[in-house]
Amino acid sequence: MADAPQRLGVVGAGTMGAGIAQLGVLAGMDTLLHDPVPDALSRGGESIAKNLAKGAERGRWSTDDADAAKERLTLCPELAGLASCELVIEAAPERTELKRELFAALSGVLEDPAAVIASNTSSIPITALAGGAERPENVVGMHFFNPAPLMKLVEIIPAAQSSERAVAVTTATGEAMGKRTILAQDGPGFIVNRCGRPFYTEALRLLQERVATHEQIDRICRMAGGFRMGPFELMDMVGIDVGFEVAKSFTELSFGEPRWRPNPIQARMVSAGWFGRKSGRGYYSYENGQHRTADPEPQDAPSGPANVAELREAVDGIEFYAVDPLGSLVEVPGERDPAVEARFADLGFHVEWVGRAPAGVLGRIVAGLVNEACFAIGEGVGSAADIDAGLELGLNHPRGPLAWGELIGFDAVFAMLNEIWQERREERYRPAPELVRWARGDG
Ligand SMILES: NC(=O)c1ccc[n+]([C@@H]2O[C@H](COP(=O)([O-])OP(=O)(O)OC[C@H]3O[C@@H](n4cnc5c(N)ncnc54)[C@H](O)[C@@H]3O)[C@@H](O)[C@H]2O)c1
Repeated sequence: MADAPQRLGVVGAGTMGAGIAQLGVLAGMDTLLHDPVPDALSRGGESIAKNLAKGAERGRWSTDDADAAKERLTLCPELAGLASCELVIEAAPERTELKRELFAALSGVLEDPAAVIASNTSSIPITALAGGAERPENVVGMHFFNPAPLMKLVEIIPAAQSSERAVAVTTATGEAMGKRTILAQDGPGFIVNRCGRPFYTEALRLLQERVATHEQIDRICRMAGGFRMGPFELMDMVGIDVGFEVAKSFTELSFGEPRWRPNPIQARMVSAGWFGRKSGRGYYSYENGQHRTADPEPQDAPSGPANVAELREAVDGIEFYAVDPLGSLVEVPGERDPAVEARFADLGFHVEWVGRAPAGVLGRIVAGLVNEACFAIGEGVGSAADIDAGLELGLNHPRGPLAWGELIGFDAVFAMLNEIWQERREERYRPAPELVRWARGDG
């Protein structure tokens, strides 16, 4: 086991770099923050000072601790100021060449030949970056989530060249910062962004096939699935242009894996200049305050059915889609029928009327998430525990995909995928070998 460093360097004082430097000083490390843009550096320093003071006001730490943490921060206008660091975390713009050049420059600056260089990249393979450094064995991926001070997760991604020691140093640093660390294989999206993809890709397909509108899909995910935000709200928040680039990079890195292909809807939104919140319009409009209507209040039904099987019995023959654990909404295929709505309302459920489609909206999204996690396990991308922790802590999912698979039954997920396959015959709906095995009850 290696120890966390005493002296930490952070390169790039933007959104992520400032947050990571704040974690460093709070964990007791002397932290040197560098940004070549003077305004960006001073803004980063100010944001850390402000957050430290705010945390003290809210009782997250004492004023003394905030003052001591602030003392540990040094702003460095020159990269050479980072010479004595044992670990440098890079949070510069997401461009391969820029990062590789930075790693070459850092190799010339760092005095300790064993100093570790970590990259906070979200999408560039670490193996492609490591070659930029003089000692590729000292390079590791260290992927924080936004906002870094609050999100409890760090993905550790060894490059093909990384030494065990470099991996141990970054893991110890993540832990010293109070994070749950997960170990991810280098590849498209590492664990979290890879296993989280079906939330967006299936939502886009459901919209494309007109099974439901984007508002409906979001409401179903929130009220039936327990997600804090629906996929379209999230795509608007992240930026539809950013999401489209990510989708293209997955396709490029995987040489065309059909599950990860971008959707033409994304291309159309980008062409129209509808990027989401930042441009005032995406799937929703942000020009007049609230972008969506509030969800209906959960209805009063003290002794409602406990699971999908009990609900099926209670409504005796009415067709609907739902996934365990039941939320306060069910999907019903077909035209609106007030009698059906009343029946479900008596049991405490809001009805969303959707198109007829195997597994329904939530079922298809959840089946996609479970299947992707099974592919990831089979390919050694991460352990089951790390995948579940990754999606819960990194993406705020209500539960990890494998926990969801256990709850619904892997055989039921397999059956959903088969139903989708029967209708579409698309390779993207093929079940992962691991899912097939678990559905059969072996392995
Ligand atoms: N924002 C997120 O949600 C998020 C989450 C996880 C990972 N990341 C990754 O973190 C990295 C930084 O993202 P961000 O959102 O903080 O970006 P940002 O634009 O907020 O900050 C980037 C900073 O890098 C500085 N910079 C420019 N050129 C530089 C150079 N040559 N050397 C050093 N610094 C330079 C800029 O002045 C800026 O302050 C990217 O690789 C990104 O993919 C971002």
